[in-house]
Amino acid sequence: MTPRPFEARSPAPSTIEEARFAHESEEEFARLLDFYGVRWQYEPRTFPLQRGDDGRILEAFSPDFYLVDLNIYVELTTLKQGLVTDKHRKLRRMREIYPDVEVKLLYKRDYLSLLTKYGIGAVNEQEQMVVREVLYSATEIERRLGELGSEIARAYAGRELLLVGVLKGVTCFMADLMRHIALPVSIDFMTISSYEGDRTGAVRVVQDLTENIAGRHVLIVEDIVDTGMTLNHLMKQLRTREPASLAVCALLDKRARRLVDLPLDYVGFEVPDEFVVGYGLDYRQRFRNLPFVATVRAEAISGEAGAEQA
Ligand code: IMP
Repeated sequence: MTPRPFEARSPAPSTIEEARFAHESEEEFARLLDFYGVRWQYEPRTFPLQRGDDGRILEAFSPDFYLVDLNIYVELTTLKQGLVTDKHRKLRRMREIYPDVEVKLLYKRDYLSLLTKYGIGAVNEQEQMVVREVLYSATEIERRLGELGSEIARAYAGRELLLVGVLKGVTCFMADLMRHIALPVSIDFMTISSYEGDRTGAVRVVQDLTENIAGRHVLIVEDIVDTGMTLNHLMKQLRTREPASLAVCALLDKRARRLVDLPLDYVGFEVPDEFVVGYGLDYRQRFRNLPFVATVRAEAISGEAGAEQA
């Protein structure tokens, strides 16, 4: 049986203010984790590696960080050979004694690739110029979608549901949300665009649904509702096709900018009046692949916020 580690501190420091970092690189790593919304604890545990005959601990290992959502420990290291060799030896011993505990030895150059590997999604240098702050991390989104999916499944219990996604911004949301709805579900998509220069939100259907929605329970799935004009026009159009019911599920609700009074049945998160990208949402067709939702630097988009298309 794997021995239990020591509970070194309780509770472990989990903010930059609380943690007394031994090295600058640790604080830098903590800031990076905070930026991506990855929950961490600083040196929460000490793992005894060797004991004397009297049971006293002769050698122990306290990894620098524990990443709560990923359930891994991280030990930061420099390239100084002496230190690295010793750490490798301790890590080997750790893995022998505590095979169920995952510990990563991380060089500075690997910080970002670790986050990418675990689906946290590190931004590259170009993206750093645009992304300002991660509002909702991949894990927070995942957690919220679980709640939304259950809520939808309860509301539509006993009925068949047709999810209608509005492209392209909805791609990530649709793919993840539908996997959290434990009901018979069909999906369909449409692509719409607003008329050039038109501020009323009137929409043109660029690519229509393939399903007939008459008599069916339709849930429109949207990435973000801003002024509400687009959705308002879309709902009017879909109502003429006489669905049995028509409701809306939006990942993000930018309520402060609403111009049309539009009840949203299901909302992931309410966002402030700022332009956001990631998790399907774009700025000039880019950043859709970031696995989190982030605000962008005002100077990077120079007053064009909100001008983009679905
Ligand atoms: P609305 O008609 O003003 O509600 O605009 C809705 C559409 O505008 C969304 O489906 C998005 O495609 C786009 N949009 C609005 N706000 C943002 C944003 O902050 N980031 C990216 N796209 C946005």
